[in-house]
Amino acid sequence: MSASGSKYKLSKDTADLKYTDILPICPEGLPATREFLLKVVEILLDYIKDESNREEKILDFHHPADMRSLLSLEIPDKGVTLQQLVDDCAVTLKYQVKTGHPRFFNQLSCGLDLVSMAGEWLTATANTNMFTYEIAPVFILMESVILEKMRDIIGWKDGDSILAPGGSISNLYAFLAARHKMFPGYKKNGLHSIKGHLVMFTSDQCHYSVRSCAAVCGLGTDNCVEVPSDKRGRMIPAELERLVIERKSRGDVPFFVNCTSGTTVLGAFDPINEIVDICQKYKLWCHVDAAWGGGLLFSKKYRHPRLSGIERVDSVTWNPHKLMGTLLQCSTVHFKEPGLLISCNQMSAEYLFMQDKLYDVQYDTGDKVIQCGRHNDIFKLWLQWRAKGDEGFEKLMDRLMELSEYMVARIKSMPDKYYLLLEPECVNVSFWYIPTRLRSMQHSTEREAILGKITPVLKGRMMQAGTLMIGYQPEKDTPNFFRNIISSAAVTESDIDFLLAELDRLGHDL
Ligand SMILES: Cc1ncc(COP(=O)(O)O)c(C=O)c1O
Repeated sequence: MSASGSKYKLSKDTADLKYTDILPICPEGLPATREFLLKVVEILLDYIKDESNREEKILDFHHPADMRSLLSLEIPDKGVTLQQLVDDCAVTLKYQVKTGHPRFFNQLSCGLDLVSMAGEWLTATANTNMFTYEIAPVFILMESVILEKMRDIIGWKDGDSILAPGGSISNLYAFLAARHKMFPGYKKNGLHSIKGHLVMFTSDQCHYSVRSCAAVCGLGTDNCVEVPSDKRGRMIPAELERLVIERKSRGDVPFFVNCTSGTTVLGAFDPINEIVDICQKYKLWCHVDAAWGGGLLFSKKYRHPRLSGIERVDSVTWNPHKLMGTLLQCSTVHFKEPGLLISCNQMSAEYLFMQDKLYDVQYDTGDKVIQCGRHNDIFKLWLQWRAKGDEGFEKLMDRLMELSEYMVARIKSMPDKYYLLLEPECVNVSFWYIPTRLRSMQHSTEREAILGKITPVLKGRMMQAGTLMIGYQPEKDTPNFFRNIISSAAVTESDIDFLLAELDRLGHDL
């Protein structure tokens, strides 16, 4: 990437040095190492400053071919200088979408929690692997403390948990543990040990990773049964029971029900208690995918009725990297029954998990997972939680919900310009923007179809303007609509006012 005109200049003595002139290769290289790293930190701090500035754009959009020509991404034969590396860092961030900008409402993970980020910096520096206590003693203990605390918040005094690379993999862990619990012979003997077809159930609003479990684990997606949801996106328990009975009568083997707490698009909460009753009646494993809505467990105001009954289920996915604002990635999966994870996944690699080590080998958590190397995702969460305390997370959850309620009220106050699809249960606000020419038209499927075509065009205008980012999608028979997410602590009421006004500015003539 271009070195000319860099605002981040290293001193003359350092600029032309190479990686061989700094630590760890050059023992005398500490001064140059320090200067190089401080310059990179300066770039990062400027990025954070710009990202917090509402006058700055969220993105500088270019189509891929144009972006490619703005960058020099090729790897040279001979390595570049430290000055060039500094410039590369600066250019990289110049074109990055500022996901921590207060007007970025595009994804479930928005915002930049600076304490969690400090944790991530430390984590990168420690650069360790999370499979054994031997090489990550402090981090392994932090993991144990935090996961126990999360289980306690769910309502379990015992159990086991692990951090996984994302909610999708957390859901996969739940699936694997459920199958292991019900069919312990599967681990050794594989598919032959199960007579009949395993079938799992989930609502038609679930995250696609649940269906992916069926594909990855040999059930086939036809055996991931979609249970219809109601108008607000919540699984209909009577439909679940009907489908379980239907599949049983065909000779299939129902074994797993996924219940979503905070669906990806609508933010709906499936009724856990009613679903657990059905699971208990038919002896099915009940998993809650609270990857998105799990953060609301902190809130006395919003936990019930949304997550009522969560303590009755067998396993829970809960992603701190979504509502709680922990830096990507940070996902956890929890099991009510202790010992199941290790029994399910243990391979006892002799070179790593020796039983005759100096210390209590229960802390070698690596044998509980299907990965070998595991990234350290705990320190950024531990540090963030230390800063906030339980109270800080509760306040954050209440604030995000309050802002979403504010947005809903503002949308309702301007029915000519905005159409709310449903009363949200989470911070997902689903709506259409209505341009001038459609304001006098009666709301109908015909108008919805037109709005569904306008929505992506307006999103395109947002990206070209760089002032706002909101996600959109279709849902079942509903054409494209905006799904606004408020999961960043940086957002204020005035950002929501801006959002609504900006949509009108960009889209009134569509
Ligand atoms: C409800 C739900 N479950 C699981 C996931 C997957 O999480 P991840 O993106 O961390 O794999 C998502 C992602 O949006 C989600 O919304």
